[in-house]
Order: sequence, then C-alpha cells, then structure tokens
Amino acid sequence: MIQIAVMGYGTVGSGVVEVIEKNKEEINKKSGEEIEIRYILDLREFPGDPYEDKIVHDVEQILGDPGIKIICETMGGLRPAYDFTKRALLAGKSVCTSNKELVATHGPELIRIAHENKCNYLFEASVGGGIPIIRPLNYSLTAERVDAITGILNGTTNYILSKMEKEGAGFEETLREAQEKGYAERNPEADVEGYDACRKIAILSSLMCGKNVKYQDIYTEGISGITQTDFVYAHACGRTIKLLAQSREEDGRLFAMVAPFMINKSHPLYMVNGVFNAVCVHGNMLGDSMYYGRGAGKLPTASAVVSDVVDCARHIGKVIMCFWDAQEAALTGIEKASRRFFVRVAQEQESKALQAFEQVSVIKAHVPGEFAFITERMPEEEFNDRARRTGIISRIRIEESM
Ligand code: HSE
Repeated sequence: MIQIAVMGYGTVGSGVVEVIEKNKEEINKKSGEEIEIRYILDLREFPGDPYEDKIVHDVEQILGDPGIKIICETMGGLRPAYDFTKRALLAGKSVCTSNKELVATHGPELIRIAHENKCNYLFEASVGGGIPIIRPLNYSLTAERVDAITGILNGTTNYILSKMEKEGAGFEETLREAQEKGYAERNPEADVEGYDACRKIAILSSLMCGKNVKYQDIYTEGISGITQTDFVYAHACGRTIKLLAQSREEDGRLFAMVAPFMINKSHPLYMVNGVFNAVCVHGNMLGDSMYYGRGAGKLPTASAVVSDVVDCARHIGKVIMCFWDAQEAALTGIEKASRRFFVRVAQEQESKALQAFEQVSVIKAHVPGEFAFITERMPEEEFNDRARRTGIISRIRIEESM
C-alpha cells in the first residue's frame, strides 16, 4: 500500500480525492499497489464530508510521517506551496502538482531537489488541465528535436473569443456573462491579460529547450483590446481570432510569446472552441502532433494530478527523467520575428497606409470610416516602424497555417 496526502482541499484537491475514490480499481491496478489517502491538509473544517477524518491543519503531520510517499499539492499560489513542496522533496516524498505558478517560477530548483532525494516533482496538471502534454514532451517525443509549440492554453479567453465570434457580442458583455456562469474569475486579469497562458508556455518552452525560460521574459498581450469589429474583418477574410501561446526555435533563436492572432480555417487550432485547450507540437522528424481536451475544471485537472501519482507510485525510490535545467534560456525579442499583420486604419489614412506598407491584401468588410488590410511578411520591428509612420487604429498578428 502507498499512502499519500493531498494539500489543499479546494476544487482540484477535492477532485483528486473523487478521482481516486471513483477509479480506485483502475488506479490501484496501474500503480501496482493500493493507493490510500491518509491526510488532507486544509485550513478549513469540512463537517459531514466523507473524508472529514483525514483532514489535518498542520503540515508537520504530513511532512513528519515517514509513511507518506507521495503528496498532491493542489493549493495554488507561491506561498506556502513552495516551502511545503521543497520540504516534502527534501524528505524524499514525491510531489504531484497542478500549481502552474509554482512550476513556472521554481520548476528547475524543485526538480533538482527531487532528483537529489530520489523522488519526483511531476506537474502534468499545470498545463492544459487534463490534456496529456507534459508526459508526451518528456517521455514520448524523446526521438524528436521539438522546435515549435503553439497552443490555446487558456479556457476562459477561448470561451470569450468563441462567444464573441459566434454571437457577435462585445468583449465586456461576454466577459460579464462568463463571470456569471462561473467560467471566468471575479478578478479575470490573469486570464484576460494572458498571464495564465504565459506561465503555461514558459513551462512548455522550458521542456522544449531543456533550459529555464523565465515567464517574466515572455512577451504577453491579452484579449481585452479585441473588439467585435475585429471579428467582422476576421470573417471577411475567412479567419478567426485566438489567444495563442507559442514558442519557436528558428535559426538558433528562441522566440516565445502570448498574443491574439488571426488564424485561418486550415489551421489546426481553428476548430478549438469554448473552454477547450489544444497544443500543437512540431518535431523535426514527426512533423506536427496535436493534443486536445479540457484544459481546466475539477475532474480533468484532478485526473492529470492522479496520473502523476500513478507515475510516482511506479517509481518509488527512482528518478523519472525531466530535462529542465536551471540555466536561463536566452529569448530573442519578438521584434525580430517575421510575420504578416492585419491592420485597421481610418479611411482618410488609406493612401498613407498604402505608401508605407506597399504590398497589401485589402479586406473588404464594409466597416464605415475604415480601411483594413493584411501586410506582407516582415519583422515586427519593421512593422512597428511603418505603423508609426501611418498612424493605425489597431493590428492583430497573423499566424500562418502549420
Ligand atoms: N483560468 C484557467 C483557464 C484555468 O481559464 O484556462 C486553468 O489553468
């Protein structure tokens, strides 16, 4: 029997308990041993809860119990999760987490401590909720040089953009509705401004290049500037707008960013709608592969945490390899990256815009008082220079089909 503890009995933590209870037989069979929840750490009391007798309020009970081999950290946030995790790993207890903030901030250090203490720090649930993406990168695509990862990594923003597209609604009202339905947080900034997707692509980029990609270095732009008019233009040119998180190695340079992009119907991410997430991974031998599913929610996320518990149970006393070095990866600024841009200018700026951008594809969408077009491919710094000379209303980057 392997005894485990769950730290944090909120949405994901209670999901972990539910998954272990409901799929007991499967999980025990696949672990090779029976998994038993011994403690659940939380500050709150849970009178009447079937697991009431497992609730503890003092982390020392868990950390000081040599019988505990695996801990699920589902608390979220940096403190005290960082200290608890570090101490658990130093004591040789494996930790499975859904905490993307902690993984993105202290991932390489915690992985190193785990390996030095013959245990594991696993984080499948930290990116893409229930979608297996960390494990494919770590164990499945090992014959590949992965050179590009592009994903829809935030369900809230994808829900908002999908709804704006389908219902012709504006950003503010769609966000309000998403909050009412419980899809968006009361404080939606981390999702809407792209910070959540930024942490997730930092984790994937680090696994892609084996070095530490700091989330603070990743250019991040959210969706609060996207309007209904942008969707009118997107439709007119057979495209939609998605918040993409991407990481790309090109001629020895590494680019990473989060921003809204226009993508066309042949792009594999075009059909990813609502709260769903998807990640496209490009390997130099395999070409493209795609991972799709529920990127958030109690049971999908908990399922990913429990899959890590099973992995840890199969590897008690053994290290599961994970190549994520503490050495910092040098990102090239996105101003050096080349792409096409969708641009809106005031009607009276038409000739100035045509002069500045030369070759353009004009988009006819009959928006009064505006002229819109898609530029040729050019480095972002060149685009910025031409846009400054013209004076534009807005621009959205174009992601070409894969
Ligand atoms: N707020 C996140 C999302 C939850 O909307 O995708 C999962 O990390």
